Amino acid sequence: MAENNLMEKIVSLCKRRGFIYPGSEIYGGLKGTWDYGPLGAELKFNIKQEWWKTMVREREDVVGASASILMNPKVWEASGHTAGFTDPLIECRICHERVRADQEDVIKEHEKIHKGKADWTEAKKFNLLVEAKIGVVEGEKNSVYLRGEITQGVHVNFKNILNSSRLKIPFGVAQIGKAFRNEITPGNFTYRSIEFEQMELQYYVKPEEKESMRQYEFWKNMRLDWYKSLGIKTENLRLREHKKDELAHYAKAAWDIEYNAPFGWKECEGLHHRGDWDLSRHQEFSGQDMSYFDEETKEKYIPWVIETSGGVDRAALFFLIDAYEEEKDRIILKLSPKIAPYKVAVFPLLANKPQLVEVAGKIYNDLRKDFVTAWDDRGNIGKRYYSQDEIGTPFCITVDFDSLEKRDVTVRHRDTTKQERVKIDELKSFLEEKLK
Ligand code: GAP
Repeated sequence: MAENNLMEKIVSLCKRRGFIYPGSEIYGGLKGTWDYGPLGAELKFNIKQEWWKTMVREREDVVGASASILMNPKVWEASGHTAGFTDPLIECRICHERVRADQEDVIKEHEKIHKGKADWTEAKKFNLLVEAKIGVVEGEKNSVYLRGEITQGVHVNFKNILNSSRLKIPFGVAQIGKAFRNEITPGNFTYRSIEFEQMELQYYVKPEEKESMRQYEFWKNMRLDWYKSLGIKTENLRLREHKKDELAHYAKAAWDIEYNAPFGWKECEGLHHRGDWDLSRHQEFSGQDMSYFDEETKEKYIPWVIETSGGVDRAALFFLIDAYEEEKDRIILKLSPKIAPYKVAVFPLLANKPQLVEVAGKIYNDLRKDFVTAWDDRGNIGKRYYSQDEIGTPFCITVDFDSLEKRDVTVRHRDTTKQERVKIDELKSFLEEKLK
């Protein structure tokens, strides 16, 4: 399948089936914003839930947090974002379109419009922070920033978290939430948006080279394995180290988990060794002590930070792309059952047979208590199967005339299309086992 063609198909499927729509579409949209529909909302919820399970619930050394989007503007001075959170911007003198100077593909695409003769200005630094105004008195409103990364909400609460828990270094604080960036060239569907969600871990370690690198290696591999465990093909993932001139202002070292997207190898998650940048800067700018006291060794120090920072929207997009397959007469989203929007669909074989509808309806209502379940009684069974394949539903249950006698149903598997009979009373345990 041609690569562009694949993106067109994904975008179209997302709109048609209710995964993702252009933001505020009825008003002509807003560039770089996207709205998630019923299936997209479930997909994103499942991704976040899996992340939280692996990163927080299953670990003794990680706790969660949920900080405000709006923060005192001094936070962004301290974090270095007001000065250093910039992308190089160039402007076409012919049509005044602005693009990022480091995005060769976008530049080439633009130059085609002017038959290869675009006339660019010198690159200048463009700050990505999005400003907002708060306050109730016109003329006295205060400027604040919508957070450019969710990270700082955790670091400013380092002492609060430490003092209200019994955590000992090394430990981590995990958070999921929205971030905002004035991207110069949003694009590639949801890949680069101006509003997006991040899922991050800030892991505090002793300020020692060897120990911090050991932890860094651990988290790099752990995060790569997480994507694989949710079904992304190994050959479509890689780790790439940032060159010195690519490093963000806060990073001592950085690696990206990249995905082999139809538009090239692209960053899915950033893994950063942030050293003592954040806590030292907050100590300096707030005047508050941000150090950690080790009861055992009696040492006092500013911990170093290993960060894992993934995008929920990018993960959702890459899971969708990776799962997309076409067979002779059907489209299938081979999503891991763990993140598939619906876990199961229930059909009465014929919609005009009340006995079938009644039994199927009872199964549907029972299963809905434990699994996100779809109902479909339109058209023929083959079409209903295909319709569920296209949205990634791993199992379809059909109630037929035999079901009335034998109290069993047909369960059809998405990937193999194989069918088996399962007792109605055993459906719940059957699904629990398959969805583990
Ligand atoms: N706290 C570190 C940090 O924010 P980053 O590499 O700038 O690091 C982390 O961003 C992740 O956030 C990226 O790997 C990506 O998944 C997501 N992300 C960043 N900018 C984005 C954008 N404009 N649209 C969608 N996702 C974005």
